[in-house]
Amino acid sequence: MCGIVGCIGKKEAQPYLISGLHRLEYRGYDSSGIVTINEKSATLLRAKGKVSELEKLADKQPSKDTIGIGHTRWATHGEPSEINAHPHQAGDVYLVHNGIIENYKELKTGLKNHVFVSQTDTEVLAALVDSFYGEGTELVDAVTQALQLVVGTYGIAVVSVRNPDEIIVARAGSPLIIGIGSDETYIASDASALIGYTTQAIYLNDGEIAICRRDGVTLRDLAAQPISSRVETIEIDMQAIQKQGYDHFLLKEICEQPVTLRSTLSGRVNVEDEQVKLGGLNLSVKEIRDIEHVTIIGCGTAYYAGLLGSYYLEQLVDDLTVDVAMASELRYRSFHLPKNTVALVISQSGETADTLACLRELKRRGVKTLGIINAVGSTIAREVDGGVYVHAGPEISVASTKAFTSQAVTIAMFGVQIAQAKGSSAKDVAKFIQELDQLPNEIEAVIKNYKEKIADIAKRYAHYEHAIFFGRDTLYPVALEGALKLKEISYIQAEGFAAGELKHGPIALVDDTFFEVALILDNWLFDKSLSALAEVNARGGHVIAITNSKKQIDAEEILVIDTKLDLLAPLVLNVAQQLFAYYVTVAKGFDVDQPRNLAKSVTVE
Ligand code: M6R
Repeated sequence: MCGIVGCIGKKEAQPYLISGLHRLEYRGYDSSGIVTINEKSATLLRAKGKVSELEKLADKQPSKDTIGIGHTRWATHGEPSEINAHPHQAGDVYLVHNGIIENYKELKTGLKNHVFVSQTDTEVLAALVDSFYGEGTELVDAVTQALQLVVGTYGIAVVSVRNPDEIIVARAGSPLIIGIGSDETYIASDASALIGYTTQAIYLNDGEIAICRRDGVTLRDLAAQPISSRVETIEIDMQAIQKQGYDHFLLKEICEQPVTLRSTLSGRVNVEDEQVKLGGLNLSVKEIRDIEHVTIIGCGTAYYAGLLGSYYLEQLVDDLTVDVAMASELRYRSFHLPKNTVALVISQSGETADTLACLRELKRRGVKTLGIINAVGSTIAREVDGGVYVHAGPEISVASTKAFTSQAVTIAMFGVQIAQAKGSSAKDVAKFIQELDQLPNEIEAVIKNYKEKIADIAKRYAHYEHAIFFGRDTLYPVALEGALKLKEISYIQAEGFAAGELKHGPIALVDDTFFEVALILDNWLFDKSLSALAEVNARGGHVIAITNSKKQIDAEEILVIDTKLDLLAPLVLNVAQQLFAYYVTVAKGFDVDQPRNLAKSVTVE
């Protein structure tokens, strides 16, 4: 949430700051700003709106300074406006911040010498640093003293005209990466801003402060004790963060699912031997065999992937209980877990604050935690006891698509591995393995064969104000996900329901301002699904049925997806829903990749 960049070197800083902010814009995009400094002055530029607005300012006021920091904002305290945009200034100090300073009101009362101009908690932190930055004090010491008083979360970068040879960065709960170049040091809250500049990076840990200079980096902790640095290699290529000819990242990410899914499965599913092996779990076969309960945690789409995965785990393993929790709820619940529980912590970004808080609580209780994470090197990936990278590649569009598919598939693979360790459910295990292997091709066929038809349907339904998605069994989580996808990018008010629940209340909503998406599989629940559909039809519904069945179905619009799959067919139907949400949004002319009020990575509560 919010993006931070910075650089100090021999070259002009402004081009990197602007390009880095463009790359991080998906993390927040209501306003942005940069400051560059030299020993005499600072050039502070801030603009409301997208980074392109800031870029226009930078074009008019180019700076030759070789040190600077920048920020793209997702508002927490104070409306999106130029005055609330970062960097915030206090005296000689300029500061950018991700996170929330919880005790900012209390801190503010002690800062009588600063005239506050914004409504942000960040300006309070800038003023606090400035209050310690007296004559003869090092900037890093002023930052350290200020942070010792802070309650909350932060990733910060600080510069001062009095010290044009250092950027001070610090982290507690909000990611920061320091890129090591030759004669250049870069700062970014996300590795994508570093691609093309350097592949060598230090991932800052919570409680660490870094002094970034042109020729290197020194790490220390909040007690000013030195820490040895750990340089790692970033393995993301430039193509992965570019649109590659697609109109939007979302379309690219939907369409690349056959490829990303093959990466998820690669080296893990062996069809000939009918084996699944996930490396990185850090569990012996005995420990896997002993698992009695799996608790799954995530937010948003990751939660829905977990919910779908829970159906798969139940299908695959007889003597296993499973529960699924929204991390934002679980973190404040008095929950109890049975013995021999393993927690699956699901997150695309690996940075979601609620999910991270649950992970830490689970670890505190001694529960074994496994991550199902996309972003390599992210905080959750680093803190879990073991886990699996889903290898879906960078997901830039705010709406999560390819990560969902890879996450659900990874849980299914985990289920197969538990079933095999326990020696149970042999029939379904073999079928799952076959279907996992075929899934990339099946998704490829949907994208190739149905894109145009879906775009046509989407155009005809884009004018509706409300939508209901419904499905049974494994299609229930898919209905929830379909509704989330549609609402977050098209702003059509959409809700997902278990088909059997419609008659318990939601069906009262059906009128001509609604359309309904009925998800139907040709399986043992087919007739039950038709009953729910008939009930909606009987009340004048405008139903689009998305199904793999060639049998007679009565709906206003029918999209029959030809697939050989059975157990994993929900993931195939989901791709059709993803395309539907995309094309509805295009028809409505909204910003597909950066929908209003949202940000990609939710690192605040
Ligand atoms: O990075 P995470 O997977 O932890 O993110 C969880 C949610 O914030 C995310 O899935 C969100 O709901 C997406 N905007 C959904 O498309």
